[in-house]
Amino acid sequence: MSALFRGKTALVANIAHGLPGRAADEEAEFDSPETVEGIAASLRRAGLDVTVLEAGPDLPELLKKEKIGFVFNIAEGRGGRDREAQVPALLSLLGIPYSGSDALVMSLTLDKALTKRFASSFGIRTAPFFLASPGEEERIPELSYPVIVKPNAEGSGKGVSEHAVAEDREELSGILASLFRDYGGEMMVEAFLPGREFTVGLLGNGKDLCAFPPMEIVYEHPTQGKYAVYSYRIKKEYEKHVHYACPADIPADKAREMTEAAKTVFRELGCSDLARVDFRMDGNGDPCFLEINPLPGLAPGYSDFPMAAEACCLGYDELIRRIAEASLARLGLRH
Ligand SMILES: Nc1ncnc2c1ncn2[C@@H]1O[C@H](COP(=O)(O)OP(=O)(O)O)[C@@H](O)[C@H]1O
Ligand SMILES: [Mg+2]
Repeated sequence: MSALFRGKTALVANIAHGLPGRAADEEAEFDSPETVEGIAASLRRAGLDVTVLEAGPDLPELLKKEKIGFVFNIAEGRGGRDREAQVPALLSLLGIPYSGSDALVMSLTLDKALTKRFASSFGIRTAPFFLASPGEEERIPELSYPVIVKPNAEGSGKGVSEHAVAEDREELSGILASLFRDYGGEMMVEAFLPGREFTVGLLGNGKDLCAFPPMEIVYEHPTQGKYAVYSYRIKKEYEKHVHYACPADIPADKAREMTEAAKTVFRELGCSDLARVDFRMDGNGDPCFLEINPLPGLAPGYSDFPMAAEACCLGYDELIRRIAEASLARLGLRH
């Protein structure tokens, strides 16, 4: 196979080392050593000369020492609401081209409220919400319940659970107090969407941007818990709790509405190469935008994005190669 890129490539990641004494979901956003090795192996099979580098404080020296010419970026960053922007910003400063979205997209999309406001400015349906700040519990506005509470700047289901659904103001105050204590930062209080749940994978750029058909997350025991939520716990033990249907069994107009909305948010934000967009239906069966993930999980056999690709007959190696190809073509580096 001919090489896609002749220089040296770094796969830059934050790796979960499973250090003892950490909260169960503290490293939730980080990639496992197996995922990192899986991606590196696929990139090598695509013909790239790949070195794995960890996204820590010594990354600038490592990049220089290894004479890296292209970065395949999966780094989630280390703390702060700009964490996903850390590696893209550093690479821009060093003048090293990289896959995926830039620092602006990474920062903005980690803030769920900003992203929802952005999406609704393009006429995309999204559930009503307000932001709650610590110390301002008295200022809860009149709401229609139930509502779900989630940290405004977390991902991977962190802080999101079926126990974070409130049916009245008193319950909401209790949930807010415990989430403020455990996670800090602002909390999004959002109307609970009782309908079916979907995710849409996006791959490519410009006129070549393509959307995988919506994949449904189907809960196995919808009656067991009152509120089905795709939480960190459910994601971890997904085989017990959910199965995935791709393409989802839904009317063509609903599928189109989601893929078009996903592409609009991707394009208007200026995302690059790949993303995954989550939706949930309201009581009328209309899909509402939840969030866009410009760094979707790529764990083989586990993450939603490769599963949706698989349903389009895009195996794991092929998916990783297509992501690298899309970014090298966008950067004008494709051999
Ligand atoms: N407004 C909502 N109504 C019902 N369920 C929700 C709502 N917002 C989030 N959820 C549930 O919580 C999960 C995680 O929320 P999401 O906004 O996608 O954050 P993240 O994936 O970054 O943790 C969703 O996949 C969904 O199951
Ligand atoms: Mg999500």
